[in-house]
Amino acid sequence: MLTEEERRDIEREILQNERKRAAAVEVLKIVQKHRGWVSDEIHDLAGILEMTPAELDAVATFYSLIFRKPVGKHVILVCDSVSCWVMGYEKILDQLTSRLGIGLNETSADGQFTLLPVACLGACDRAPAMMIDEMLYTYLTPEKIDGILEKYR
Ligand code: FES
Repeated sequence: MLTEEERRDIEREILQNERKRAAAVEVLKIVQKHRGWVSDEIHDLAGILEMTPAELDAVATFYSLIFRKPVGKHVILVCDSVSCWVMGYEKILDQLTSRLGIGLNETSADGQFTLLPVACLGACDRAPAMMIDEMLYTYLTPEKIDGILEKYR
């Protein structure tokens, strides 16, 4: 069930598009902004967007920045694509998993962090890269990870 505020934001977004379904990704982002993730209530949105639940589900699943399961307060997206891989992805991942005590696709016991793999963040020339919430971190080294995580604790 959408809240009044969610409904208002969604209607505003839909009005900016010629076809309702073109607003699908932005509408999913609105729901995620309010709730932290997008549950199966997504099916209620399908009607508003003139899509079938399966179509909207496919959009949500394809778009890796839409979270279909509950996530922690901060989401760490660590790039595992080619440039980052070559420039030290594995060492960055090792440092993250050891500091957070979780593996990829897991959330820390205190609910602070979720660690997710992501395809290219568009910062290949500054690899390796990761994003925490909306903030992009580049030229990563294992030594930089502790200081970065400290900002979110
Ligand atoms: S490959 Fe990692 S940012 Fe492009």
